[in-house]
Amino acid sequence: MGVVLGIESSCDETAAALVAGDRTIIAQAIASQDEAHAPYGGVVPEIAARAHAERLAPMIEAVMRDGGLKLGDLDAVAATAGPGLIGGVMVGLVTAKALAMAGEVPLMAINHLEGHALSPRLADPALAFPYALLMVSGGHCQILRVEAVGRYRRLATTIDDALGEAFDKTAKILGLGFPGGPAVERLAREGDPKAVLLPRPLVGSGEPHFSFAGLKSAVLRAHQSGLHADADLAASFQQAAIDCVVDRLTHALHAMEPVETLVVAGGVAANQAVRRALESLAAAQGLRFSAPPPALCTDNAAMIAWAGQERLAIGAPFDPLDIAARPRWPLDPAAEPVRGAGYKA
Ligand code: KG4
Ligand code: ZN
Repeated sequence: MGVVLGIESSCDETAAALVAGDRTIIAQAIASQDEAHAPYGGVVPEIAARAHAERLAPMIEAVMRDGGLKLGDLDAVAATAGPGLIGGVMVGLVTAKALAMAGEVPLMAINHLEGHALSPRLADPALAFPYALLMVSGGHCQILRVEAVGRYRRLATTIDDALGEAFDKTAKILGLGFPGGPAVERLAREGDPKAVLLPRPLVGSGEPHFSFAGLKSAVLRAHQSGLHADADLAASFQQAAIDCVVDRLTHALHAMEPVETLVVAGGVAANQAVRRALESLAAAQGLRFSAPPPALCTDNAAMIAWAGQERLAIGAPFDPLDIAARPRWPLDPAAEPVRGAGYKA
């Protein structure tokens, strides 16, 4: 069974993993940079790139040792080549090129979003194409119809903030530190989701997209009013965000060609309340529900190695050693840009 080495360095997680074609994660290592970025309340690109440069090579060495493999044993080296913070992406991609050269093995430049989009199939062997995918991370918030490896139809994206960004900004407002998503989820468990009346942007709208900027501003005003307990604000924010997601997905599921499974991936998919709401939505729509375990939802290298395995399985071409890192790299190049969308792919 062939093995792919995966490398991830597009944001603030440095990661390496060995994944076999039968879905076995042979070895993996991951280091988050939370402490380095925490004083700034967000990821600082220069600090991230330097940390990747320091940590990545020893992590790959450790993973190869754990797996008992030599470079020449690999079927391919797969690295995230974008989208993401370009300094970090370059560290991972250049490292992969050097390893591919040294081991005389093929190189695969992987789209980080494709890693997230296919990660549910690493965890769930029964998950067949096509499926409806809610991809929710710190930088992206999209609904896609995943039709095959390399074929993604984007039905919706955000016109302002991504969902993970909304969680992170809410955490900042409430003084919960960075990264914010897990902290908001923990605090929300102690609060009343109906305590604070917050807007649900674009709910009921005929256009398919997401918007979270107005929700974040409303959380800020409610916090400044001093009238609400932080736990109630966290719970009410999380509920409003979930209501938006459920409404937008319902809209998209009606607009897309039929699928049998609703899937969620990306960092916010680690949120248990979000998972429960989507599970109910799937049941109500007569769909199967699939979500990777939380450790495969947030950034990791196993999903990059798995995307490499998926590409190997369809005989996709390898990439040349001069392939460029891409700060932007939409999964569906044919999707129309949306009003107000900033840097989102
Ligand atoms: O996929 P990911 O690790 O990195 C990106 O590609 O962006 O996603 C990170 C995002 C952050 O915004 C983080 O706050 C959010 O996912 N996140 C969560 C939870 N765990 C991570 N949001 C809500 N609840 C969680 N439990
Ligand atoms: Zn990600």
